[in-house]
Amino acid sequence: MPVVLKTAEEIERMRVAGRLASEVLDFIAPHVRPGVTTGKLNDLCHAYMVDVQHTVPAPLNYAPPGYRPFPKSICTSVNHQVCHGVPGDRLLKPGDILNIDVTVIKDGFHGDCSRMFFVGEPSIQARRLVEVTYECMWIGIRQVRPGARLGDVGSAIQQHAEKHGYSVVREFCGHGIGRKFHEEPQVLHYGKPATGLPLEPGMTFTIEPMINAGKPGIRELADGWTIVTKDHSLSAQWEHTVLVTPSGREVLTRSAGSQPPPAIAQ
Ligand code: MF3
Ligand code: CO
Ligand code: CO
Repeated sequence: MPVVLKTAEEIERMRVAGRLASEVLDFIAPHVRPGVTTGKLNDLCHAYMVDVQHTVPAPLNYAPPGYRPFPKSICTSVNHQVCHGVPGDRLLKPGDILNIDVTVIKDGFHGDCSRMFFVGEPSIQARRLVEVTYECMWIGIRQVRPGARLGDVGSAIQQHAEKHGYSVVREFCGHGIGRKFHEEPQVLHYGKPATGLPLEPGMTFTIEPMINAGKPGIRELADGWTIVTKDHSLSAQWEHTVLVTPSGREVLTRSAGSQPPPAIAQ
């Protein structure tokens, strides 16, 4: 299946879906506190998406080949959980770091983004991992322009992570997005400059690096979804959905509560 270039009308719908996905993260932010369960965060987000936004939570019952249907409406990945954490009875406690990943469908199009949250005060090491991972995402985003290649994106992310002694998870990547949740191309968060797919205006894809404080290895839990670091080191992830424009890029998953780009990627 080829990479789908979006028309002007489709891009407008992608903008709406992207903003709505980001607004779910704005909505849930004040609820991320010690004592709340990840299941409660899921239920709050689900109600906000369905009842307030009239969006569809894309994760709910999502079942790619080889996976059982995802049972919840958002992903919540705590501490050494890398991605696809399934919300449940786990109580958040001071010092936890948490990724919340939201994907909505509006008017046939998907918007996909995630942010890291601190529960109470993080350790110095956790704060640094989260900051550097945010920089990695933005350094990747800043590579996006017509004529740049996907290897430029992956390489920039990998270099920044490894410079800080961190590692890039290899098994999961960013992805094309549009009418489908996951479409071509695959957007690796590692690679070599001047290799891979050349970017063209109208492409829409996510950049969502998963960065481990320790080794890159991962394993899947028995729930069939939750991914954790093999060495139990902390892991962080941020995600935006990006459009390639004639002059560079537009981040589609922005809203009032989005953090500005870091100084390093200005
Ligand atoms: N939102 C994730 C991504 O960024 C995918 C989650 S799949 C799910 O690609 F089924 F776990 F929701
Ligand atoms: Co994604
Ligand atoms: Co996502």
